[in-house]
Order: sequence, then C-alpha cells, then structure tokens
Amino acid sequence: MPKLDHVSIAVREINKFAELFEKLFGVKFSPVKNLDSQRVYLRLGETEGTKIELISPSAADSPISKFLEKRGEGLHHICLEVENLDTALQDLKKKGVEIIGPPTLGGSEKKIVFLHPKSTGGVLVELKEK
Ligand code: CO
Repeated sequence: MPKLDHVSIAVREINKFAELFEKLFGVKFSPVKNLDSQRVYLRLGETEGTKIELISPSAADSPISKFLEKRGEGLHHICLEVENLDTALQDLKKKGVEIIGPPTLGGSEKKIVFLHPKSTGGVLVELKEK
C-alpha cells in the first residue's frame, strides 16, 4: 500500500498562507526552504500521518509562476511514497504512464519524480522514494 507523503498547495504568499492554516487549523509549518532546483520556496506543515506542502515561486520563470497564472492558487499535486523509485517507474512505464523529466532530489533530499496528469486522471502525482 503506498503512503500519502504530502499534498501540495501552490500559493502566491507562502508565509501568509502558512499563518492562515496555523490560525484556522493549528498546523505548524517548517521555516522557508529555497529549493533552487525547482525554483520554489517551500514550507512543510505537519498533520497526523501526512504533511501539507506549500510552494510558491522563487523566480519569474518558476513552473509555479506559470501554474498560478493559469490556474490560480490551490491544490498542485499529491505525493505518494514508494519503496524503490526505479522499480515503480519501470512498472508505470509498462502501464503507459508519461513521466515528467528524470528523477531529481526533492525538498526532503529524497529522489522524486512527477507523473504527467494526463496519465493519472488529471491529478499531478509526485512519487518519492522512501
Ligand atoms: Co511535493
């Protein structure tokens, strides 16, 4: 059974959003991390069993800038944790799933990769190695 590692929300003002969720739901967020490889700022909020990831653009050419322009703030992706990323990708390729780019290191220094929403029912899915 895969584990839901986090849900990710794209926002314009990361600190303002974190304050709102802290005030409304008592979620505590990690300090801001600048994830250069993806050109995003990132904060993680702890909830029972999973996490809420906040991402905002750190550069005009960030993929999140484009997302916010097109779709506005809101749910960006879900992340499922897998035992072995290479094995999972081999299996998904056989099932015809389109993979976006090669695996890279995510915010938690683990190997991650994104699957194209057109292969996954319209939801952007991040896979993360345990
Ligand atoms: Co994520």
